[in-house]
Amino acid sequence: MISQSSLATLCLLALVHALPSQRPFEASNSKIVNEIEPLKHLSAISPFYVPTSEPDPLPQGCSLETVSVLIRHSAILGNDEEYEQTMGPFIEKLAKFDKEKLPRLGEWSFLRDWKSPLKEDELDELSERGKRDSKFLGKYFRKQYGSLFPDPKKHKGKGKPSYKVWTASSQRDIDSARSYILGSFPAHQSGGKGEGDGDVVQLIKVPNKAKDWDRSLTPHKACDTFEKQSSLKPANQWLKVYAKGIKERLHSEIPHFARELSDQDILAMQMLCGYESIATGSSPFCHVFTDSEWRDVEYYFDIRWYHAIGYGSHLSPYLGLPWVKTAAHLLEGKDADDSGHESVMFNGGSWMLSKSKLPGPRLPPNATHSQLLHPSFTHRESPAFVAVFLNLYNSSSLAHPASEPLPLDHRVDDRAWRSSHLISFLGHVALERFKCTGTEDTKPHGLLEEDYLIRPGSPSHSFVRAVVNGKAETMTGCEDGPEGSCRWKTFRKFVDDRVERWGDWESVCDKK
Ligand SMILES: *[C@@H]1O[C@H](CO)[C@@H](O)[C@H](O)[C@H]1NC(C)=O
Ligand SMILES: *[C@@H]1O[C@H](CO)[C@@H](O)[C@H](O)[C@H]1NC(C)=O
Repeated sequence: MISQSSLATLCLLALVHALPSQRPFEASNSKIVNEIEPLKHLSAISPFYVPTSEPDPLPQGCSLETVSVLIRHSAILGNDEEYEQTMGPFIEKLAKFDKEKLPRLGEWSFLRDWKSPLKEDELDELSERGKRDSKFLGKYFRKQYGSLFPDPKKHKGKGKPSYKVWTASSQRDIDSARSYILGSFPAHQSGGKGEGDGDVVQLIKVPNKAKDWDRSLTPHKACDTFEKQSSLKPANQWLKVYAKGIKERLHSEIPHFARELSDQDILAMQMLCGYESIATGSSPFCHVFTDSEWRDVEYYFDIRWYHAIGYGSHLSPYLGLPWVKTAAHLLEGKDADDSGHESVMFNGGSWMLSKSKLPGPRLPPNATHSQLLHPSFTHRESPAFVAVFLNLYNSSSLAHPASEPLPLDHRVDDRAWRSSHLISFLGHVALERFKCTGTEDTKPHGLLEEDYLIRPGSPSHSFVRAVVNGKAETMTGCEDGPEGSCRWKTFRKFVDDRVERWGDWESVCDKK
């Protein structure tokens, strides 16, 4: 006789197998069918994608005033460190393996004649796809922020300051910025190769390592105590947990080869899905893992970046500060008669604040207030640092806020820390300052009339919101504006408070 509980188990099993969302063709075809797109779950290896089909619109009755945006460079042909530690050893192992021991049929048969598309001397170079994506981003920004660009008909700057695009000085950043410029400006302004015509549009390279004003783009390169190596340890601890299951599965599919595979090799194959797709347009590795296995590798990267450049590192808010401070200053946008500069002091190694004003940067980019959109290209670290400084994804009302540690023995699916959404190629964080005009009817709920209805001469009707890859995100602690945005006044205080807390760069960055 079957007991009630085992009957229940049987029913449940039948139900699980019948779930339409799971591998619908499993019975007739052993090939894995993915419901999710692996390329959107590869964190810093994900090629650019727009998570929402349209960027989140501003609250009703509001219009953009000025925007600062920090953008990671576009898709590259492999990353040095990942190649050396993970993909390179796997590629070598496969090359030496006796191909006759690999299956002739089924989804793994491709291994018999697979050749790596990655070349050691091209690692870290911007790919053709990366260039196309960056150009696309330029067009997308022109559409989204058109009113903030210089007039496309303008041929000469006539002595006016040029519109500037800033970039960190690595070649992949410069090349991303140039493709972006080609996409967002007409040919007479973009210059032949996207370096700008030098008059209306200018590309400004910020040296990566000079310690004075570069901190706003590549702060981690100016901070001697920063390192990413130690984050491999917790990430690899989780890798050990999930790779075990994959290796067991592969024992029945590619028995000879599976025996040889290390945990790093499993990771290598999942990384290659990303880099091979970037290099050639597609990759067989994207079709040999289940949805759950893709979510596992995504969790691997989230653990890694949580510790290296997210809330798990005490350095993150310190390193996110310089860009936010510069951006806040640029958003203040007081044009030529700006008098905010005297309030900035860099004194004895820390930023000194006057109580009422945001510190302006003492060095360039510091004098371009005629510009309304300020784009800067940089590396994966910076958008993550900025997210931490702005307290994004960290509301205590979330199931698993981004600052909460990630367990290493199981995956937490409802976590707020999603590096795939933040530091994919061309991942970007925008601070959008906007103003609202309107009537009592359109006034967003919870807002005082005096903060909403425009009164000439008063600056208090400005708001600011953080937007990550087109999606508006709450800066926890700075959310008293319409639809989770923040009043400009509140934002200035929010930034000031956080600068006071995390402004003493030397105390954490100087090697003792
Ligand atoms: C911007 O920085 C440069 C270089 O230090 C400096 O000469 C200039 O006075 C600064 N401009 C403003 C408006 O502070
Ligand atoms: C994240 O949220 C927690 C809990 O509210 C808070 O204690 C912590 O300071 C926040 N982290 C940052 C960097 O603001």
